[in-house]
Amino acid sequence: MPILLFKKCSKYFQEVESKDSNQGTTTHNQIHSTDTVIDKLKCKECGEEYNLEAKHICEDVCFGPLEVKYNYEKLSQIVSRATIEAGPKSIWRYRHFLPVATDNVIDVGTGITPLIKSERLARRLGLLKNLYIKNDTVNMPTLSFKERVVSVALSRARELGFSTVSCASTGNLANSTAAIAAQAGLECCVFIPADLEAGKILGTLIYNSTVMAVKGNYDQVNRLCCEVANTYGWGFVNINLRPYYSEGSKTLGFEVAEQLGWQLHGLVVAPIASGSLYTKIYKGFQEFIKVGLVEDKAVRFSGAQAEGCSPVAQAFREGRDFVTPVKPNAIAKSIAIGNPADGIYALEVASKTNGHIESVTDAEIIEGIKLLAETEGIFTETAGGTTIAVLKKLVEAGKIDPEETTVITGNDLKTQEAVQGYIGEPLTIEAKLDSFERAWERDQTLDRLDWQQVLV
Ligand SMILES: Cc1ncc(COP(=O)(O)O)c(C=O)c1O
Ligand SMILES: [Zn+2]
Repeated sequence: MPILLFKKCSKYFQEVESKDSNQGTTTHNQIHSTDTVIDKLKCKECGEEYNLEAKHICEDVCFGPLEVKYNYEKLSQIVSRATIEAGPKSIWRYRHFLPVATDNVIDVGTGITPLIKSERLARRLGLLKNLYIKNDTVNMPTLSFKERVVSVALSRARELGFSTVSCASTGNLANSTAAIAAQAGLECCVFIPADLEAGKILGTLIYNSTVMAVKGNYDQVNRLCCEVANTYGWGFVNINLRPYYSEGSKTLGFEVAEQLGWQLHGLVVAPIASGSLYTKIYKGFQEFIKVGLVEDKAVRFSGAQAEGCSPVAQAFREGRDFVTPVKPNAIAKSIAIGNPADGIYALEVASKTNGHIESVTDAEIIEGIKLLAETEGIFTETAGGTTIAVLKKLVEAGKIDPEETTVITGNDLKTQEAVQGYIGEPLTIEAKLDSFERAWERDQTLDRLDWQQVLV
């Protein structure tokens, strides 16, 4: 397993030595100081600055969250549409917007997922034109948008010298962390609520990471992980590495802008769990505007939550600028965070951009999953179903201008329990033409859910 030895940990502009303990080989990666546009972490609340270490809270002043600070003037001199287009076919084409110090990143092909013009779904919803789905259900390597944040967090973890990485996860993050850690040769131990879907648990164990299934909800898992992070000094991608991790979500916004021909569309709908993805897509658009890659355009940001865990949607509905934590109880386990770290910032983005944050019931989420599958051939997980259901709700309530909408789905095919019992069964027939013909006739005349008996 590679152990990174830093001559002076977390300081830039110097040589990094990396030693492989198995093979005893040493490589030298020269940091490109001229390309580095990050210099500090900065508190989002009071502006206090910190060195670029594994730290996420403004512990000297106000306990606010820390964010990476960029030198945008320098950034605008380094990047252009052409340099990005000439880059790798992964999120690392946007590497200068990401908080890593070197080109020695973990590139497992994450990103550049399809942006699909969704004409059939648009028609079903009564939208007139230009509805796009950003399909992160095919993101690499574990089929969710979490690869974006993990690729960045673990690249930075390696630079900071961590040999063991971890996360507090609602499922997808555990999959990504385990898989990408395996690829990078990092030790991995993840924490999840014990009642997660079987597909998510299996899809983590397979990478030989240690899985701690905690008897409790995500918020309890998260509290435990904060203690472990302090005691063990591991790199928790969404705790002490959170300032780096969260920047990875910007790449989804970057890709949408690039795929739309270097422009922005008028409306985005995205799922909200901690609120990181939603706020960072917004930040990504702002950064592209700031460095001149796209023209400034007002984009409305709407957020999607499941009713059984919708603290941000509730605050939005009640016009509050603070989030009251709730106890999660929703089919959409992947976005069931009762005390979202970036909830107040999500509220800020919604109000700044004239967006909405809505919630939908479990039944609407299942309908959302089916609707996307039937119209666009995409089998999304519950987070995606939530997003589609909120889009439908906003259209029906007349809250969406039926033009230029980009829906960001959260993703993948690991929550089959959610739709079991709602999509019918195969028609079992004999290997005879008349058996097939009887079944076919019934299938054409009856609703499939009413037609589930076995044919013999
Ligand atoms: C599939 C999927 N989509 C969206 C989200 C929302 O993530 P965030 O915590 O950045 O709001 C999650 C969170 O786990 C997720 O698993
Ligand atoms: Zn502060």
